[in-house]
Amino acid sequence: MAQPLPRRGASIVSTGAYLPTRVVTNDDLAHMVETSDEWIQSRTGIKQRRIAAEDEFTSDMGAKAAQQALELGGIAPESIDLIIVATCTPDTIFPSTACHIQRKIGATRAAAFDLLAACSGFLYAMITADQFIASGVYKTILVVGAEKLSSIVNWKDRNTCVLFGDGAGAVILQHREGSRGMLAFNLGADGSQPDILSLSSGEGSRFNAETVTAPFIQMAGKEVYRQAVSAMNRSAEECLEKAGCKPEQIRWFIPHQANFRIVEAVAQRMGVSLEHFVINLDRYGNMSSACIPVALHETMMSGKLDRGDLVLLVTFGGGVTWGSLVLEW
Ligand code: ACO
Repeated sequence: MAQPLPRRGASIVSTGAYLPTRVVTNDDLAHMVETSDEWIQSRTGIKQRRIAAEDEFTSDMGAKAAQQALELGGIAPESIDLIIVATCTPDTIFPSTACHIQRKIGATRAAAFDLLAACSGFLYAMITADQFIASGVYKTILVVGAEKLSSIVNWKDRNTCVLFGDGAGAVILQHREGSRGMLAFNLGADGSQPDILSLSSGEGSRFNAETVTAPFIQMAGKEVYRQAVSAMNRSAEECLEKAGCKPEQIRWFIPHQANFRIVEAVAQRMGVSLEHFVINLDRYGNMSSACIPVALHETMMSGKLDRGDLVLLVTFGGGVTWGSLVLEW
């Protein structure tokens, strides 16, 4: 009997990132709300974050990250078949941020849509893209995670404003001969607790200009913390098992960068040394769906990734949503 053909899934062929130039330190925030560098660092690990200019939008940052990925990969924008943008801070509900980016980078042939899974958006988008490539429908897909969270943060609320930052990361996916690409994934959601992490934007269908009083991120910090640790741990372990891998075979764990204590707790539960975890939240804070692609890009650019290395991406976000992905570099 003929053997089934091997799955021709997606590999990352290039990456890019963009961070706005303005650095806002914890001391800067202490001039705006009652907080301190000591409180923020000890509770979260965050030292500073980047904040976009007033006239710099999610698609501007996403387009710059995408352009870098195109340049580094030597890929022409016209060869992109599909653009998926993971974001919870779109420039506009429609046109989608993906359409804005399509225009800005000249990806004239590409289909384009946004995907919303809060901080888990980038992983949801990567796994969605992989299905299109494995089915043979598309050859080249641009996946962007981009956020201007500063536009949905209440700068008078010390409980939340110290946590977030702006930025964008991008990857280009293609099938690469000889690479196993994405070995296994795990995605999940639990919509039963909509209030622990939410944004009641004036553009959602439940709201209008009269009913929205605070279109800002709302968060029950302790509950989010507790659930993030357990969901990320469970998701990563299930994903490793599916991939048939032991944690010691993974060169880099790239977690969502919400809080150093969350990452530390996940590493501890998995029995993995923190040395194998990529951490950049000290410099950028939580950039939601941009965290993982920026961390991937920085790891690649610093020469810490070789062909054949296994990487585990793991995330948790509003919804609540979570996901993990094991991929071969
Ligand atoms: N500066 C000084 N004091 C503060 C600040 C601040 N920025 N923020 C809160 N406090 C105060 C509180 O008002 C409270 O004071 P009180 O005891 O007088 O009421 C005190 O500090 C303790 O507050 P807690 O909420 O108990 O602090 P906790 O140790 O839980 O840390 C934190 C809060 C950092 C938000 C933590 O719960 C956490 O990390 N949660 C995870 C949530 C997260 O990371 N969300 C990001 C978005 S979700 C995602 O991306 C997964």
